Amino acid sequence: MSFESNGQTDGTSALPAFRRTRRTRRSAGLRRLVRETALSSDDFIYPLFIVPGEGVRHEISSMPGQFQLSLDHLPDEVDELRSLGIGSVLLFGIPAEKDAQATGAFAPDGIVQQAVQTIKAHDPEMVVITDVCACEYTDHGHCGILVNGEVDNDRTLPLLAATAVSHARAGADVVAPSDMMDGRVAAIRQSLDEAGFPSVPVLSYAAKYASAFYGPFREAAESTPAFGDRRSHQMDPANAREAMTEIAIDLDEGADFVIVKPALAYLDIIRQARDRFDVPIIAYNVSGEYAMIKAAARLGWIDERRVTLETLTAIKRAGAGRIITYHAKEAARWLAAEREAAATREPQPSVLAHSGS
Ligand code: PBG
Repeated sequence: MSFESNGQTDGTSALPAFRRTRRTRRSAGLRRLVRETALSSDDFIYPLFIVPGEGVRHEISSMPGQFQLSLDHLPDEVDELRSLGIGSVLLFGIPAEKDAQATGAFAPDGIVQQAVQTIKAHDPEMVVITDVCACEYTDHGHCGILVNGEVDNDRTLPLLAATAVSHARAGADVVAPSDMMDGRVAAIRQSLDEAGFPSVPVLSYAAKYASAFYGPFREAAESTPAFGDRRSHQMDPANAREAMTEIAIDLDEGADFVIVKPALAYLDIIRQARDRFDVPIIAYNVSGEYAMIKAAARLGWIDERRVTLETLTAIKRAGAGRIITYHAKEAARWLAAEREAAATREPQPSVLAHSGS
């Protein structure tokens, strides 16, 4: 680092030489000029929870602003997303009936399969990604077939592969296995290829941690395990090197891109993944992260808009190419408002606070 004379002429020239990094922060325009990370609505993938029935728009209590929607609400929802510049969705389904074999997950007329068809019929350009997992479809809430009270890895693979194929058949653009069974990317890739879907990519939840931040999602997806937890297959939050192994294995098995999940408490994992692998890294800004901001904002403890945008910026700065986030719509609106403000000559409040003139 080089230092310079402090340039003062007001009698403070006795100060030592130092660098003035504040120079490029003086105005909103200068800050924009040197900004390294920019968010846009292209960055967001919006999760949707689809339920059976008609006219259902049920707010999830622990995720204010997020709804379980029935199929008939999807066209309007998709129109709204498109108007905000959001071009991809991630679908979760809550079936009318659950059973031990998760048959609802791969039924040709299953809830997600119907949702894919509805969205693609309405807006063929909307990118539809489907979550491939059994937990929403099993009556015990676990991510696969149970044998002696444990999720049996190898017996679960055909179920996941059949689910992925049925999603592709319904018209899904991308399938995203979130179960964390070993070998599932290979099994899904092979089945997709054999079923005539060699061009449907696999977005694997490669580094998915056994996280308490999924709490609100389990209410939304009605997928809380009836007993036990998911620690026998999801990753231990204490491990980072293991995440790199998981990603390497999934890419080896044929994953096209990967998810790191959750996001905020795992920014180091996102960064390491970004530095190590040359595929898109997608971060999942999960339900608990969303709920914490909403709760604190409701209590008036934080500035919701600023905390949300700061969080999303941090996830992107850490190395995420795209972010799966429940904040997508509001963030897109705030970003559009910021762009609009930047298009006027109105000084932004922070300029006045810092300009000193
Ligand atoms: C499994 C799945 C989960 C989430 C996405 N896919 C829950 C889990 O693994 O228990 C969590 C997403 C969130 O918390 O927002 N189908």
